[in-house]
Amino acid sequence: MRVLVTGGAGFIGSHIVDALTARGHEPVVLDALLPTAHGDAAQPPPGLLHLDVRDAGAVRVALRGVDAVCHQAAMVGLGKDFADAPAYVSCNDLGTAVLLAAMAEAGVGRLVLAGSMVVYGEGRYDCPAHGTVRPGPRAERDLLAGLFEPRCPTCGAALAPGLVGEDAPVDPRNVYATTKLAQEHLAAAWARATGGRAVSLRYHNVYGPRMPRDTPYAGVASLFRSALARGEAPRVFEDGGQRRDFVHVRDVAAAGATALEAIGERPAGTFTAYNTGSGEPHTVGEMAEALAAAHGGPRPVVTGEFRLGDVRHITADSARLRAELGWKPEVGFAEGMAEFAASGLRD
Ligand SMILES: NC(=O)c1ccc[n+]([C@@H]2O[C@H](COP(=O)([O-])OP(=O)(O)OC[C@H]3O[C@@H](n4cnc5c(N)ncnc54)[C@H](O)[C@@H]3O)[C@@H](O)[C@H]2O)c1
Ligand SMILES: [Zn+2]
Repeated sequence: MRVLVTGGAGFIGSHIVDALTARGHEPVVLDALLPTAHGDAAQPPPGLLHLDVRDAGAVRVALRGVDAVCHQAAMVGLGKDFADAPAYVSCNDLGTAVLLAAMAEAGVGRLVLAGSMVVYGEGRYDCPAHGTVRPGPRAERDLLAGLFEPRCPTCGAALAPGLVGEDAPVDPRNVYATTKLAQEHLAAAWARATGGRAVSLRYHNVYGPRMPRDTPYAGVASLFRSALARGEAPRVFEDGGQRRDFVHVRDVAAAGATALEAIGERPAGTFTAYNTGSGEPHTVGEMAEALAAAHGGPRPVVTGEFRLGDVRHITADSARLRAELGWKPEVGFAEGMAEFAASGLRD
């Protein structure tokens, strides 16, 4: 299968290219090498189509002879401030619309999209009295007072965090999350309009070799790994009790390749979302401890700082992906963190 991998020079995209090659497919790699992701001086590696998905003419050329598209290109992370909003919307949503229009024109009807768990906002919570509830964004005064756990919106009781399924209502809490949700809606609209088949893999916190260094656009595992590389202690926000699902990049890449291989058998005109996580939740504090221990120190410090817009707990149930596509994660938490502590970040 010949597969256009957009964002193929990125962290996850590069592992998808490796996975496709190992499975005997032919990846076509496209990436604009965004300065926010690669710095200002990045040189395109040999074989890379150094193109932007927002450029319809370029995408038309890149789609020649292609059977399926694996769309990873996006501007990621929380960004610096709201001034980044137009760039996020442009890369992620205009980019997806241009790509989908070119696919429709070229008759390429298979899309696997890099989705994200950020579309859910807060994870699932159960109140002892009110069942599953949906707490809104946390108040700044609570966070300043060190009250990090969301409470039941009806009775104020402490809540038990659980796993979100794909049918949980969406609640994007920042610009990036909004653009990731819009990508899914565009993909669903494209599938209906063209008879195409689209799958979104809603990745959880992906980590592993070639993760970008710490920037306002990077994930928490990269921030901790970069601190350790400088000989500094990872700084853990809140009280370290935030629950996440850290999933290894090779497992995510395998999910992408598996979805590409299976998508042709799905009904025409459909869009399906799959949570893509390890199924083994850990706290951010545990992740920092595991990474620091594997690195040989220094130990993390818990700072009580917070970022408005961060959610407290978000962990997913990836049973649908296991059941329908036969995928299962192979890299365990301790093993993956030890490898990540020893491996390099992307320059
Ligand atoms: N890393 C995670 O934990 C995580 C979690 C959920 C979802 N995702 C999604 O996975 C995908 C890959 O993310 P990543 O972590 O590998 O980030 P990354 O920044 O390493 O990779 C994204 C790549 O896309 C390229 N790109 C961005 N805009 C482009 C454009 N307009 N045209 C062409 N190329 C463009 C960038 O240059 C970069 O190489 C993204 O869609 C992201 O939203 C990542
Ligand atoms: Zn309640």
